[in-house]
Amino acid sequence: MPVAVHLVEHPLAAASLTKVRDEATPNNVFRQELERIGTLLIVEATRNLPTHEVSVRTPIQETTGRVLSTQPIVVPVLRAGLGFLNAAQVLLPTADVGFIGISRDEETFEPKPYVNKLPESFENRVCIVLDPMLATGGSLAHTCRLLVDAGATGPIIVVCALAAPEGLDFLRTTDLDLIIYTASIDERLNENAYIVPGLGDAGDRQFGAA
Ligand code: PRP
Ligand code: URA
Repeated sequence: MPVAVHLVEHPLAAASLTKVRDEATPNNVFRQELERIGTLLIVEATRNLPTHEVSVRTPIQETTGRVLSTQPIVVPVLRAGLGFLNAAQVLLPTADVGFIGISRDEETFEPKPYVNKLPESFENRVCIVLDPMLATGGSLAHTCRLLVDAGATGPIIVVCALAAPEGLDFLRTTDLDLIIYTASIDERLNENAYIVPGLGDAGDRQFGAA
């Protein structure tokens, strides 16, 4: 299945990326800057959402405008994906939110799911997965399979701050239909499957070590 990757190169995203990479950035600033990256990425990721024409009366006259034809579903992957949730809800106020919780096994790097709370109906709805980190791609593949099992059809939109080439290559070997928006494709993974140069542990840097 196709995996399209869009690298979002924007000066504001680049500046925020520098802040979140900096090990000296405190957690509160890290959260703010990550949310800014989320906003910029989600604007791009929603560029092709379907719309239809409606009429609207201005104080001057009747005219036409456009509204979204889909009520999207956004799915933050706990914990780190919560850092993009406020940005998504500000931009998509009518979206429903599903929650998937996944942690990586520290030895095998395999995804270990622990939360699955998704909206009842996925019919004709665009799904947008939020996870700042795409490392091996295991967590994302697992999340997207849960969404397909729940009824998601069509390409799933993915928003991540950083992606590793290895994770993107892995996703291309799967049967998933994905459109990925990222602010950076980093160099590689290290021996602990952390993104290099990366930003460290995106969950810990927002919420403390767990
Ligand atoms: C992080 C991140 C992704 C995952 C990416 O979660 O939020 O979900 O790692 O790694 P992968 O591509 O190799 O699967 P983590 O397991 O650290 O949990 P956390 O968000 O609770 O810290
Ligand atoms: N998860 C993270 O939070 N950071 C990485 O570099 C890889 C996985």
